[in-house]
Amino acid sequence: PFLSIKNNTIALIVCVPPTLVSSVSLAMNPLLIPEAYIIGAQPLCSQLVGLSQGQKKLCQLYQDHMQYIGEGAKTGIRECQYQFRHRRWNCSTVDNSSVFGRVMQIGSRETAFTYAISAAGVVNAVSRACREGELSSCGCSRAARPKDLPRDWLWGGCGDNLNYGYRFSKEFVDAREREKSYPKGTAESARLLMNLHNNEAGRRTVSDLAHVSCKCHGVSGSCSLKTCWLQLADFRKVGDALKEKYDSAASMKLNSRGKMVQMHSKFNPPTSHDLVYIDGSPDYCLLNHTTGSLGTVGRLCNKTSEGMDGCELMCCGRGYDQYKAQVVERCHCKFHWCCYVKCKRCTKTVDQFVCK
Ligand SMILES: *[C@@H]1O[C@H](CO)[C@@H](O)[C@H](O)[C@H]1NC(C)=O
Ligand SMILES: *[C@@H]1O[C@H](CO)[C@@H](O)[C@H](O)[C@H]1NC(C)=O
Ligand SMILES: *[C@@H]1O[C@H](CO)[C@@H](O)[C@H](O)[C@H]1NC(C)=O
Ligand SMILES: *[C@@H]1O[C@H](CO)[C@@H](O)[C@H](O)[C@H]1NC(C)=O
Repeated sequence: PFLSIKNNTIALIVCVPPTLVSSVSLAMNPLLIPEAYIIGAQPLCSQLVGLSQGQKKLCQLYQDHMQYIGEGAKTGIRECQYQFRHRRWNCSTVDNSSVFGRVMQIGSRETAFTYAISAAGVVNAVSRACREGELSSCGCSRAARPKDLPRDWLWGGCGDNLNYGYRFSKEFVDAREREKSYPKGTAESARLLMNLHNNEAGRRTVSDLAHVSCKCHGVSGSCSLKTCWLQLADFRKVGDALKEKYDSAASMKLNSRGKMVQMHSKFNPPTSHDLVYIDGSPDYCLLNHTTGSLGTVGRLCNKTSEGMDGCELMCCGRGYDQYKAQVVERCHCKFHWCCYVKCKRCTKTVDQFVCK
C-alpha cells in the first residue's frame, strides 16, 4: 500500500498516489465505471489504508470528498515543512510509510502542530471545493451578510464554504479519536483530548483568518458597485498563525477528574484556538526511532546565524563540515521595452555548512 498509517499516527489520507487520484475521479463519474457507482464504489474506501472504522463509513457516504481531504492534508504537511525548514525537527518522517512517522507517538508540541495544520488543511480544501462546485453535497458559502458591510455593497458572490468545510473536517478528522475510548485519567485519554483540542485549534485558525473580499463593478472601473463574499486566507497565513501558536503552546496534564488542565497555572488557560501538548519534546539531535527524531546529521546550517538555523544549535555542538557548492542564479538582468526583464544565468560558488 502507498500509505500505511499505524497506531497513533495521523488520521488522514496523507498522500493519495496519482493512480489512486485518477481512480477517485473515475469512480465518481458513473458513466465511466457504472458498476463502481452502483455498488457504492466500495473499492475506493477499502483502498485507502489507514482510515478508522468511522472514517471508512464517511468515505463511503462522501466519496467525492476524499480527494480534497488528501490534498488538504498534503497542503498542511508542505506548509509544516516550510514553517520548520530551519529547525532541527523539520516535519519529516523517520519511516516513509506515513508522512509524520513516529514523531506522533509522543504528545509533543511538534505533534500538536502536525494535527492542527492537517486539520486546517482539510477545512481549507473542502471549503474551496464546495465553492468550486466539486462536491455534490455543498456549494457556495451561505454565510450571513456581515453587519458592518456598507449598505450599497452587494453580498453574495460565491464564497468559500467555511461552514461546511469546518463541519465536515470536524466530523471526518475527529472521527478517529471519537471512536476510541479510554478509562479516565490514563495517558491514552490525555493524548486523545490533546489531539481533539489541536484539531479544533487548526480549524479555528482557518476560520479566524477568513475575511470578506470584494470586487468592483460599474461603468469603466468606477467601482460604483461592489460584490463581496467570504474568502479564506492564503494558507501561508494559516501556517504563520499556527507557528506562533506552536511557540506559545500550553503544557497540559490531567487533573484528578480526568480533565486537561494547564501545568503552570500562572499563565492564562489555553482557549480552543490555542495549541496544547502533554509531553516534552526530545532535542531532535540524533536519530531515535522511539521519539521519531531523524537527527540533524547532514543538515545544512548557517555559519553566521545565531538562531536555530545556525550551525551551533542545528548541529547540537557536534560541529560541521564545509563544502563548496555551485549555485545558479539570475544575474545581469536587463529591462526591455516593453515590458519584460531578461536575465542571464550565472553560476557562483558558495560555502555550504553541513552538520557532522
Ligand atoms: C522508504 O523509501 C525507500 C526509498 O524510496 C525505500 O527503499 C524503503 O523501502 C522505504 N521504507 C519504507 C518503510 O517504506
Ligand atoms: C531514544 O529516546 C528515548 C526517549 O527519550 C530514550 O529513552 C532512548 O534511550 C533513546 N534511544 C537512543 C538510541 O538514543
Ligand atoms: C529534514 O531533515 C532530514 C534529516 O535531517 C533530511 O533528510 C530531509 O531532507 C529534511 N527535509 C526537508 C524537507 O528539508
Ligand atoms: C545566515 O544568517 C545570517 C544572519 O542571520 C543571514 O544574514 C544570512 O542571510 C544567512 N545566510 C543564508 C545563506 O541563509
